[in-house]
Amino acid sequence: MSFVFSDKYVHGFVSKTEIDAVNGEVLAAHRMLVSRSGAGNDFLGWLDLPKNYDRDEVAAVKRAAARIRGLCDVLVVIGIGGSYLGARAAIEFVHGNYYNNKKKDTPDIYFVGNDISSAHLRDILALCEGRDLCVNVISKSGTTTEPAIAFRIFRDLLIEKYGKEGAAQRIFATTDKARGALRSQADTYGYESFVIADDVGGRYSVLTPVGLLPIAVSGIDIEQMLAGAAAAYEDFLEGDVRTNGCLRYAALRNLLYRKGKSIEILAVNDPALSMTCEWWKQLFGESEGKDGKGLYPSSAVYSTDLHSIGQFIQEGTRTMFETVVNVDAEDGFAVPADAENADGLNFLAGKTINYVNQKAHDGTVLAHTDGGVPNLSITLTSRGAYDFGYLVYFFEKACAVSGYLLGVNPFNQPGVEAYKKNMFALLDKPGYADRRAELESRLADIR
Ligand code: PA5
Repeated sequence: MSFVFSDKYVHGFVSKTEIDAVNGEVLAAHRMLVSRSGAGNDFLGWLDLPKNYDRDEVAAVKRAAARIRGLCDVLVVIGIGGSYLGARAAIEFVHGNYYNNKKKDTPDIYFVGNDISSAHLRDILALCEGRDLCVNVISKSGTTTEPAIAFRIFRDLLIEKYGKEGAAQRIFATTDKARGALRSQADTYGYESFVIADDVGGRYSVLTPVGLLPIAVSGIDIEQMLAGAAAAYEDFLEGDVRTNGCLRYAALRNLLYRKGKSIEILAVNDPALSMTCEWWKQLFGESEGKDGKGLYPSSAVYSTDLHSIGQFIQEGTRTMFETVVNVDAEDGFAVPADAENADGLNFLAGKTINYVNQKAHDGTVLAHTDGGVPNLSITLTSRGAYDFGYLVYFFEKACAVSGYLLGVNPFNQPGVEAYKKNMFALLDKPGYADRRAELESRLADIR
C-alpha cells in the first residue's frame, strides 16, 4: 500500500509563508482534538479506535458475518446517512461497482432505507424473490423514517418466509446499547445485535460494527481495514503543517476557503470510489456546514465527469478547488491494436489502461490548475481493505481539525432536523398540528 498526499499544485494559490503562518492555529485545533477539550468532545470515540478497538466485538462481528454467509444468498442492509454510507463505500472501494454481479461465495448485498422511493423498495424486493435472506438493520434511534419504513417491510417479508422465530434468527440489529425502538425490538424478539457507541457519531462510524458487519459479510478483511486506520493514526499523530499531511490538508483547505474557494470537489479517477465520495460528502458536509460557514463538499468521477461538469470546472465561477484521489493501480490490462486504426488510437496500442488513466489525471490536474482551480492530491497504488481504512482515518481526522479551525462543532448536525419537523407535520404526526396548518398555508401560496 502507498498513500501519498501532495500539495505541489496548490503553490501558485497559497504561499509557503501563508502555510507557515497558519501553523499555530492548526496546532491549537489539533491540540483541542487530542486533548478532548473542544466542542463535541463527547463524540471522540473514533479518535483512538484504530488502536483501542474492542477485539472481542470484532471477533463477534466476524462470527455473525460467517453466520450470515451461511444462512443467505442476499443480505439486505437497512440504514441511512452515517448508518449506511461507510459500508457501501468500503464494499465498492474494494470489490468495485459490480460486487453483486460477480461470481462469489458471499451473499449479494442490497442497501435500502436510504431514501423514500417506492420504486427502489419494489426493485429490491423483486431481486430478493425466491432467495434466502438476512437483514442487517442499522439505526441508532430506531425511529429514523426511511430505515424504519424499510425495516417494517423486510421484517414482515422475513416473518412470512420463515415464521417469527426463523425471522428473528435472520435479523441482525446494529443500534444503541440501551435505548431506542430498535434496541427494544432486538431485546424483545432476540435479534443478534451490535452496539453503536454513544461517543461515535454516524458519519464517524464506518470502522465500528455499523460498517464492519456488512463489510465483513462481503468477504473483506476487517482487521486489515482497522490496521490501515491504525497506520494512519500513527502517521498523523505528531508534527505540524510541514510534516503531518493530515494537518497540512486541513490547513490548506482552510486557507483556500479564506481566499474564496468555498467549494471542495473530491475528484476520483476510478468509479469504485464514487460511494467513497458520498461518504466523504456526509463527513465534511455535516461536520463543517453550520453557523453560516463551511466548504461545500462536492464530488466528481474522472474521466467520466470531464465530459460533463469538466467544462464548468475548467472555466466556470472560480470558487472551487479539487482534492484528487488518484488510484494508480497497474494491472497490465492494455489497449488492443487495431489493423484499421479507424479511431486513430493505435499510438496507444500496448499501453495499459491505467497508464492512459494516469496521463488523463496528469493532464487534468495541470489544465485545472491553469484554469484557476487549485489541486490537492492523494495517490493510492491499490484499493484494498488496508487502503480504505487508512484513507478513512486520514479524512476523519482532517475533518475534525478542519471543523475546529473553522470555529464550529464538527460533531453535531442540528440542521438535519428541519426537514424532518416539516415532513412529520405534513404527514400529520401527532403533536405537529399547529405547524401543519402554517406549512399547508405556505404551500397553498406557492401553488
Ligand atoms: O450522521 C448522522 O448523525 C446521521 O447521518 C445519522 O447517522 C442518520 O440520520 C441515521 O440515524 P439513525 O442511525 O438514528 O437511524
